[in-house]
Amino acid sequence: MKTFLMILILALVPALSAGAAPVNGKMSADVDPHDKESLQRGAQAFANYCMACHQAELMRYNRVARDLGLSDEDVEEFLIFMPGVQAVDVMRNAMTSEDAEDWFGVAAPDLTMTARRHGPDWVYTFLNGFYRDEGRPLGVNNTVISNVSMPHVLQELQGLPDPVREEVNGEERLVGFELNEAGMMSPAEYRRFTRDITNFMDYMAEPVKAERQRLGVYVLIFLFILLGITYLLKKEYWKDVH
Ligand code: HEC
Repeated sequence: MKTFLMILILALVPALSAGAAPVNGKMSADVDPHDKESLQRGAQAFANYCMACHQAELMRYNRVARDLGLSDEDVEEFLIFMPGVQAVDVMRNAMTSEDAEDWFGVAAPDLTMTARRHGPDWVYTFLNGFYRDEGRPLGVNNTVISNVSMPHVLQELQGLPDPVREEVNGEERLVGFELNEAGMMSPAEYRRFTRDITNFMDYMAEPVKAERQRLGVYVLIFLFILLGITYLLKKEYWKDVH
């Protein structure tokens, strides 16, 4: 049994290390709302690579600035690429949903709450799940959203993984990926880059998460001290009864 498991694990390793998402199952983004540097990099990548099509209308630039330790001027310089938009504005783009529907068949959805709705690991796996599929209009498909209408906008960074198919029980199945066409980043760099974006999207979906976790620790400490005091009080009350 043990040897069988070892063989199974060894057989799976090459598929996972090929620089693409696993065929089934999720990758773990391991998001961290306290990692400000990751969040800052993620915010910049999001503004650069995603906001051409997507908006985050429930978020304001100056809120991002405050939470991520940036000034309004930083935000205007590094995150805002549209004329006339200021730090007080919401993260909106110039594309109307009619344009998007004309171009991609579906409107690019607002991404403010996506990490909350689907979970950060889903987003991370999606960003790592693009692969070549000549049968699709854009030449790519995705392991998370099959027949996706979003182009692989990070292709120049990741490259484009090729699907590896094998015949299993007389049926052709997708068993893994091979990165024949490499991008500007190594697979590890690309994973870090997409983790930063995911981390930022997770922050956007719940901006108070870091604060909530910090407060949670104080609440626990407080309850612990209270427990001690209550115990002493109980002893005091009962000492004459026995
Ligand atoms: C060229 C336009 C375009 C760009 C740029 C773009 N997307 Fe998309 N995205 C789309 C479209 C269109 C869809 C809808 C896909 C579908 O439903 O098949 C989509 C869907 C998504 C979804 C799925 C949302 C859901 O709730 O189903 C996520 C997540 C997403 N995009 C993230 C990103 C991120 C992160 C970036 C930046 C790295 C990005 N997108 C850049 C067009 C774009």
